[in-house]
Amino acid sequence: MDLLEAVHTRRSVRAFRDEPVPGELLERVLDAARQAPTAGNLQAWSVAVVEDAGTQEGLAMAALGQGHVAGAPVDLVFVADGERSAAKYGERGRTLYALQDATIAATHAVLAAHALGLGTCWVGAMREGDVEGLLGVPDGHRVVAIIPMGYPADGSVDTSRRPLESFLHSEGW
Ligand SMILES: Cc1cc2nc3c(=O)[nH]c(=O)nc-3n(C[C@H](O)[C@H](O)[C@H](O)COP(=O)(O)O)c2cc1C
Repeated sequence: MDLLEAVHTRRSVRAFRDEPVPGELLERVLDAARQAPTAGNLQAWSVAVVEDAGTQEGLAMAALGQGHVAGAPVDLVFVADGERSAAKYGERGRTLYALQDATIAATHAVLAAHALGLGTCWVGAMREGDVEGLLGVPDGHRVVAIIPMGYPADGSVDTSRRPLESFLHSEGW
């Protein structure tokens, strides 16, 4: 699958087969995340791989009871390292670049997973403090997304997009 096909056919998956993600595929997904552009190439992000059923239940609770977080064979928790970016870029690094670094890395992971036949769903609704406590996320870091990942159980729901013109402003607003 080429990149544009992956971009166009990816949709959120919220039901997963009871089948583990092979280690080799997990590695390829994480390596795709590692290739993401980052501010100043500081790579101010990290990811926790969570496969323990009890921890996944805890993540699902922190994500306001979203069942797909516990129902996936693995969750990837992407975290921004604000201090790493702040060391070079100050407040803008802490409050913006680190979040962008982690977000782009997670996007790479989501698209790579899809290209490899895996489904994911971006989960942003969560009590961040609960996730931090559960995973022991260090101070100065911020959880950006939980990404449940696994083989899709059934067809995902197709979603539409606004027409391109509605995003565009020619030469400004
Ligand atoms: C920042 C962000 C937060 C999201 N949070 C959740 C979430 O908490 N739970 C969920 O099931 N989906 C969540 N989604 C997935 C969106 O609902 C989904 O991407 C959107 O409806 C478009 O559908 P598609 O991904 O199938 O194209 C989130 C997506 C983004 C980008």
